Amino acid sequence: MVRKILKFGEPILEQKADPVTEFDTPELHELIAEMWETMYAAKGVGLAAPQIGLSKRISVIDISVGEDESKKIVIINPEVTSSEGKQTGEEGCLSIPGFREPVTRANKVTVHAHTEKGEQIELTGEELLARALLHEIDHLNGILFINHLSTLKRDIIRRKIKKLQKAGEWD
Ligand code: NI
Repeated sequence: MVRKILKFGEPILEQKADPVTEFDTPELHELIAEMWETMYAAKGVGLAAPQIGLSKRISVIDISVGEDESKKIVIINPEVTSSEGKQTGEEGCLSIPGFREPVTRANKVTVHAHTEKGEQIELTGEELLARALLHEIDHLNGILFINHLSTLKRDIIRRKIKKLQKAGEWD
């Protein structure tokens, strides 16, 4: 089932999500299947559980956007264990549609996480994958890409969103 993606303004998007404590359950597998379905329907490269209204530390990422099955990544309770370098590139978010801004992030990161079966994994990503991992892990900590922008840029975006909300074009 494709779930509704919550937009900026929903409090859950700015709250720290809760760790997953039970793995390999039918509920967890079903939730992750729904996250994939929702992400692909929206043509995104990543989706975090809070974006569909669930305070759980789960993100899915596919930088091939459905072109390459081997690129599908599920990270549960992820932690960044190392990062190096810098990259700056345009970033957007399914919860802040219509806005894209350059964001500077580490160029290479290593992440420790659990799979949906509860196995521990470590993965390293560079460039776009590093960006996607960091963006999705941020979501689990209640951080959105606009939090990485200057106060000025963030306020401009916030004001534009307020106008869209008033016009009923943001929900
Ligand atoms: Ni996002």
